[in-house]
Formats: sequence, structure tokens, C-alpha cells
Amino acid sequence: MLAFNSRIGIIGSGRLGTNLAVVLANHGYERVSITCRKSSAKPSIQALLPKVTIFDNNQDLADFSDLIIVCTPDHQITTVAESTTWNSQQSVIHCCGPLSYDVLAAASDSGASIGSFHPCQTFTGNINIASVNKLFEGTLINISSDSPTLLESLSNLSRKIGGIPISIPDELRPLYHVAAVITCGSLAALMSISMNIWKAIGLTESEAASALKTLSTTTLANVHEHGIPASLTGPILRQDFETIDSHLNALMHYSPEAAGVYALLSKITLDGSSLPIEKDPNSKDVSNRYTDLIERISSCLESPR
Ligand SMILES: NC(=O)c1ccc[n+]([C@@H]2O[C@H](COP(=O)([O-])OP(=O)(O)OC[C@H]3O[C@@H](n4cnc5c(N)ncnc54)[C@H](OP(=O)(O)O)[C@@H]3O)[C@@H](O)[C@H]2O)c1
Repeated sequence: MLAFNSRIGIIGSGRLGTNLAVVLANHGYERVSITCRKSSAKPSIQALLPKVTIFDNNQDLADFSDLIIVCTPDHQITTVAESTTWNSQQSVIHCCGPLSYDVLAAASDSGASIGSFHPCQTFTGNINIASVNKLFEGTLINISSDSPTLLESLSNLSRKIGGIPISIPDELRPLYHVAAVITCGSLAALMSISMNIWKAIGLTESEAASALKTLSTTTLANVHEHGIPASLTGPILRQDFETIDSHLNALMHYSPEAAGVYALLSKITLDGSSLPIEKDPNSKDVSNRYTDLIERISSCLESPR
């Protein structure tokens, strides 16, 4: 059981590390520390976390901590594990989605317990102390460990900060994580296509942002309240084939790459067997037009981009 007076050290004061330090402090963990390698960044971290100790380097923080949470980019985790001296009283975990705790083998070789703690949430550098707790409420946290005791502590910690602990088998972690990235980063990339198109046809930045906000907010609210099939709208569902054709023509002219994205998403919409697309089996015309549409989409997907 991780006591409120346990010494928790966070390596890396980036997006997740800082949010995690704030949420731990907000939930009563009294002895949280964090590393910050850039002296220019320390005042803003100290302002966010007045009671938190800030260390310049990983070893000083490790020497001061019982549980060490590595919040560096994924490719630095092994380097951190290998370049730090650990002891058998410590627990060392990382927060990476796709990697198992094996990347912390160097800490395990020194006798430390190792594990992982991946919140399935998105964290940015825009931190608001009052709302950080909400980021963890209802958030799935994928935990794993080579020690049953540490696993139980991570499970309790997850619940304490409002999360829901889960355990994904190591071999499924990349797939689990890519679904999170599609829901988050890829969704943002998709929205950037729309923003760029609206700006390219003359909308101002604020007009384009308004269009994005109203459409995406309503869509996400519908998805959460009614589920994905009931939230789908658009020309595919209406069987408006000329409209889809005009979209593909316009996009091929604007950007074949964007046309490819739209064609692929249209194909996914069409292929989704659970989608409420009403095809009239008695109507040869509708059936032919679906076939034409699928061929058109395929040609857009195959055209060189
Ligand atoms: N952000 C998210 O939404 C999110 C969500 C779930 C899980 N995660 C996981 O959390 C971890 C951190 O991601 P992040 O988005 O917070 O990254 P980030 O914003 O890029 O922050 C990384 C931090 O690590 C520091 N760092 C880099 N190399 C280091 C080293 N060798 N020793 C000590 N500190 C080092 C960086 O310091 P400098 O600035 O000095 O380089 C920076 O403060 C990753 O494993 C990621 O997969 C992130």
C-alpha cells in the first residue's frame, strides 16, 4: 500500500510528469518530487507545485524516492533505467503505453521492483490545477508489475486519483495504445484537414475554429450519449451519391492526400456492418450506385499521392 507519506519521485517534468505531480499533490501525497533539467523552467513548475521538491538530475531524485515514476519520452526510459543507481527497496515504473516493464530491466537487476502505469488520457502543457483531477476521473490506467505488492499499490493509486486500473497483456499493448492514439492524435490530425480546407477557401481562423468547435462538440456529445452508429450522419447514410462524388472531385483537386483520407473513411463507414445504412435490395439502381461508389473510392485510394 502506497502511504500518503511515501516518497514519490517523477523523472521528467513534461506533459504527463507535471500533470501527475499536480494530481498526486491534490490527492494528499505529501512527499512528491520531480526532476527539471532546464533551470529556466523551474519557476513555473514551482509556481504550479509549491510543496514539491525539484531536482536537477535523476540520481538525486532516485536517492530521495521510494516509488520512481519515469515520465520521459518512451525512447529514453531504458537509458534512464541504465544510467541510474537503484536499490532493492525501490519501485520503478514507466508510463509508456506500448512497452512492457521489461525496458526497466536495469532497475530490476539492482533488486528494485518494476512496473508500468499508463493513463489512457491525453495530457498537454496547459495545466490548470483546479481541473487536473478531472483528467484522471474515469480514466483507464493500464498497470503491470513483476511484483504483486507493487501491482496492488498501483491499483490502489489508480483508484485513489479517480482512475480505473486495468491490465492489458504485454503482446496487446501496441494495439491497445494505437487505439488511444487514433482517438486522440489522429482525431486532431483529421480536424486539421478540415481547418486547412476552410482557411484555404477564405474563412478566417476564428470562423474555421467556430465551425470545428460546433461540429466536433456536437458529434462527440452524440457519440457519448447515443453511441457511434446512432451518431453517424452524412451523405453515405442518405445515399446521396452525387454529393459524395462532388466531395471526391473537389478533394482530388485540392489535395489527393486528403482525398485518400476521405475515401478511406468513407470505405470504413460503408464497410461497417453494424452501421444503419439502408440498402434497398430490390433497387438495382441503388445497388449499382453503391458499386460505383466503392469503385470510385478504391480508385481514389489507389491513385498516386
Ligand atoms: N502526454 C500524454 O498525453 C501521455 C499520456 C499517457 C502516457 N504518456 C507517456 O508519458 C511519458 C512522457 O510523455 P510526455 O508527453 O509527458 O513527454 P514530454 O512532454 O516530452 O516530457 C518528457 C520529459 O522528459 C524529460 N526527459 C527527457 N529525457 C530525459 C532523461 N534522459 N532524463 C530525465 N528527463 C528526461 C524532458 O526534459 P527536457 O524538457 O529537459 O528534455 C521532459 O521534461 C511517455 O512515456 C508517454 O508515452 C504521455
